[in-house]
Amino acid sequence: MTEPLQAVRWTGDALRLIDQTVLPGRLEHLEIRDVDALVDAIRRLVVRGAPALGVAGAYGVAVAMLQAEREGWDRPALEAAIDRIRTARPTAVNLAVGVDRVRPLVDAGPAAVAAEAERFLREDLAANHAIGAHGADWILARVSRRPVRVLTHCNAGALATSGWGTALGVVRELHARGALEIVYADETRPLLQGSRLTAWELAHDGIPHLVQADGAAPSTVLRGLVDVAVIGADRVAANGDVANKIGSVGVALACAHAGIPFVVAAPCSTVDLTTATGADIPIELRDGEEVLAWEGVRTAPAATRGFNPAFDVTPAGLVTALVTETGVLEVSRGQTPGGDAPSGA
Ligand code: MRU
Repeated sequence: MTEPLQAVRWTGDALRLIDQTVLPGRLEHLEIRDVDALVDAIRRLVVRGAPALGVAGAYGVAVAMLQAEREGWDRPALEAAIDRIRTARPTAVNLAVGVDRVRPLVDAGPAAVAAEAERFLREDLAANHAIGAHGADWILARVSRRPVRVLTHCNAGALATSGWGTALGVVRELHARGALEIVYADETRPLLQGSRLTAWELAHDGIPHLVQADGAAPSTVLRGLVDVAVIGADRVAANGDVANKIGSVGVALACAHAGIPFVVAAPCSTVDLTTATGADIPIELRDGEEVLAWEGVRTAPAATRGFNPAFDVTPAGLVTALVTETGVLEVSRGQTPGGDAPSGA
């Protein structure tokens, strides 16, 4: 990749987002200057992925403050606008974490809020690189086959974060160490984050990959074509249950059956100790039409209604390891081949 991908950037008076809805066909940016546009961009997945949503939320507070100055809002109107950003999507806890990080600085003005959002972004970027290194260390200690074959689901790459990626940070690190054979990237229905975004990132970096239909993933694991699955997370509950893109739990079940590690790579900002279990994680239910049409053309009968949960919850017992910037927590033991000594924090 010639220059690092930055999904979310502050221009000084606006939020500049890569429009992820038009990738990989077009690399376009949206400049966001008002709260309605930001909430719309979050809901349409112009900006998406838990850490990127956190950074967008943090800068979004500055957007709301600048709009409040321009339009003469009173304080309750500003607070209501900030709440709208904070709750624009419900599952990724990072969105609320990002907003809450900068909210105490509202009295200090938009420049102070934007500066704190910038620190939040830099911390996330550093966390991504640490996750990549810890995850690669752990995989190379626990998986004996070389080079390693990885399966990933959805997009947990540079586009979903401040840059580099969580699950794709691990993949990039394995590739940089010459230890990666192939990435099986699940297509990720219905919005195709895998085939549109993950494949785009991997292709740019020259990382060997294959896109497969989501329905192929468990079979690919059970056929012995994969050594480890690495995914991101939208929220990790206090008991270790993991919410991530719909389809993740099927991958986890297949990994458990096959006896290969199912690894979750996420920054500490995705761990939500106030949410006790996966059952308490709000799961976004998106418009059913997203699963009933293809490029605007309806593929299901006119009378058919869709069911479109955007995320699922993988029980902690199916998660072999949680990789954060502080190290590797072995959540569930006994599934990984070899049973070598644990590593990390
Ligand atoms: O609906 P999305 O595209 O926002 O869902 C994204 C995911 O599920 C990612 O795997 C998760 O946010 C982790 S991104 C590092």
